[in-house]
Amino acid sequence: MSTHHIEMSLNGLRCAGEVEARVSLADFLRDDAGYTGVHLGCEHGVCGACTVRVDGVAQRACLMLAVQVDGCAVQTIEGLAAETGGGSDSDTLGDLQAAFKRHHALQCGFCSAGILMSAADWLQRVPTPTEVQVREMLSGHLCRCTGYTPIVAAILEVAQARAEVHAANATKAAHV
Ligand code: FES
Ligand code: FES
Repeated sequence: MSTHHIEMSLNGLRCAGEVEARVSLADFLRDDAGYTGVHLGCEHGVCGACTVRVDGVAQRACLMLAVQVDGCAVQTIEGLAAETGGGSDSDTLGDLQAAFKRHHALQCGFCSAGILMSAADWLQRVPTPTEVQVREMLSGHLCRCTGYTPIVAAILEVAQARAEVHAANATKAAHV
């Protein structure tokens, strides 16, 4: 079986490997790279549990091949905290993760990593969303436990907190 050499930035670290062309990105991340925060539910692009970011954009890792991310920057839940105000290790929470914890936005947690990765990407593009917009974004993710309400509350709280920081920084800059 022929393999392909791939290289990527994975959670900020250089990662190289040899993969068969048919290996999914999700399997590569979990089995070869050891990032088991990438969860596999449906493996058909429906549940959203496997969502990671490729060059900043949320993607379903079960629908991509590992060879497709050659040369890309890939981020899993293990690398999210450092970008969102937490520590560089995966044990320190970023603002989205901390808000999920505060709002009890997870029960079994199976869906959580995927939702957090989608929210991280989406809030960059929709920084001040309405509740309806958050629920529309979440329509790409299945959660069997929470009823979604605490997840919506957590995402809205982070959006508001970030907007307040942004406004305060803009005011400060205007007075320099
Ligand atoms: Fe990828 Fe369900 S496991 S969308
Ligand atoms: Fe269990 Fe969402 S917290 S599936």
